[in-house]
Amino acid sequence: MPLFVAQSDIVIVEEPNVPSSEVVELYGAAGVHRATDDLARIERMLKNSNIVITVRHAGMLVGFGRAITDNAFCCYLADLAVHRDYQRNGIGKAIVDALKLKLNDDISIMLLANPEAMDFNPPIGFQKVGNCWIMPRTH
Ligand SMILES: CC(C)(COP(=O)(O)OP(=O)(O)OC[C@H]1O[C@@H](n2cnc3c(N)ncnc32)[C@H](O)[C@@H]1OP(=O)(O)O)[C@@H](O)C(=O)NCCC(=O)NCCS
Repeated sequence: MPLFVAQSDIVIVEEPNVPSSEVVELYGAAGVHRATDDLARIERMLKNSNIVITVRHAGMLVGFGRAITDNAFCCYLADLAVHRDYQRNGIGKAIVDALKLKLNDDISIMLLANPEAMDFNPPIGFQKVGNCWIMPRTH
């Protein structure tokens, strides 16, 4: 059942079993840097996410969001990617709206923004905070 239909041939659904090969291709087309040389790691990222949302245009994967949540207090939006040919058409916002539909209002959503997409976040409801700390991964 579609979560949201942006246009007749653009469909947003929850797709927990989205093929990792399609996600890797989309990371490239969106300019998102992930460990795409390690498919087993990408598959673990997908498998262990609570919510995986895809956007397809005539079947082609053009948008993707992946979140990890306790379904009670907080949710980390770990990936948000829109194919560069489809950006600035409301797809990124639609993915976040679809995620919000899956979460209760008492759950906060957090993300780490790409430097080039910092200004995407305020118009869709994210607030910049100064008390976020990160312990970087080694690779
Ligand atoms: C960031 C990204 C997900 C946005 O997706 P999108 O489908 O292009 O965004 P939308 O069309 O839904 O835009 C929503 C709003 O953000 C604005 N916006 C989108 N990308 C922006 C950017 N890079 N810089 C500034 N504003 C941006 C839009 O103008 C729109 O504002 P409006 O509602 O006032 O018109 C997409 O550009 C992307 O995949 N970028 C590369 C990966 C990335 O940076 N991911 C991390 C996101 S925090």
